[in-house]
Amino acid sequence: MTKLGIIGAMQVEVETLLGQMEDRTSLEKAGSTFYEGTLSGLPVVVVRCGVGKVNAALCVQILCDCFGVTHIVNTGVAGSLCPELDIGDMVISRDAMYHDFDCGVISPDYQVGQVPGFDTVAFPADEALIAYAFAAGESVNPGHTTIGRIASGDQFVCRREQKQAIVELTQALCTEMEGAGTAQTAFRNQVPFVIIRAISDKADDSAQMDYPTFEQIAAHRCAQVTASLARQLKLAQNS
Ligand code: ADE
Repeated sequence: MTKLGIIGAMQVEVETLLGQMEDRTSLEKAGSTFYEGTLSGLPVVVVRCGVGKVNAALCVQILCDCFGVTHIVNTGVAGSLCPELDIGDMVISRDAMYHDFDCGVISPDYQVGQVPGFDTVAFPADEALIAYAFAAGESVNPGHTTIGRIASGDQFVCRREQKQAIVELTQALCTEMEGAGTAQTAFRNQVPFVIIRAISDKADDSAQMDYPTFEQIAAHRCAQVTASLARQLKLAQNS
C-alpha cells in the first residue's frame, strides 16, 4: 500500500497540506513534528524539516525508518536558474544534485556534485512520480510546468555571479536547499522520490526583494500541486 512522505523545509510550504489532512496524529522526532493521516484518502506523513540539506536528509531517514513511507515528495520554493522560468512556474525534478559538493582536489575523477561512493553526479527521480507530478503541475498551472534538473546547496543564491557559476556547474533549472539531500537519502533507502518546486525568485540580485513578496504564493501553489499528486496516486491505487 502506498504511503507518501511529504517533506517541506518551512511552515509556509506545508501549512495548507496540514490543513487538508484527515485523521491526523503527530509524533515528535529529532526536533520536527511528523503528522500522519490521509490526503484525499491516501495515507501520508507530512513534516516541516527545516532549511538545508542535513535537515532534509535526517527527516527523510525518519520517514523511512519510523513511518515506512513507500514514496517521497519534497515540496517548496526555488530560485530560477533559466530565463524561461518565471516566478510562479513549476519545476519537477528529473534528477537532483549538489552544487556545493566538491572532492575534485582528492581525485580528478570526482566531478563537482559527486559524493564519493556514488557513481552518479545526480540522483534520479522516479519516472512514475515524475509523470504524476507533471500532470499535477499542469492541472494547477497549465503550460507552466517543466521537468529537469534541480541543484541544491546550503546557500540562498542571490548574486548574479553565484547563479552563473551554479548554472555552469549543474545545468539545472532551479536551485534550492533541500532537494538533493532528500534525493540522496531516498536513493540510499531505495525509496522512489520526486521534487516539486515553484519559482519564488530569480536567484540573482533581485532575489532579496522578490523572495519575501512571492514566497507564500509560490509555496502554496507547490503544496496545491503536491495535494493533486496525492489525489492521483490514490486514484491510481484504486484502478
Ligand atoms: N529557495 C527559494 N529561492 C532560493 C534561492 N534563491 N536560493 C536558494 N534557495 C531558494
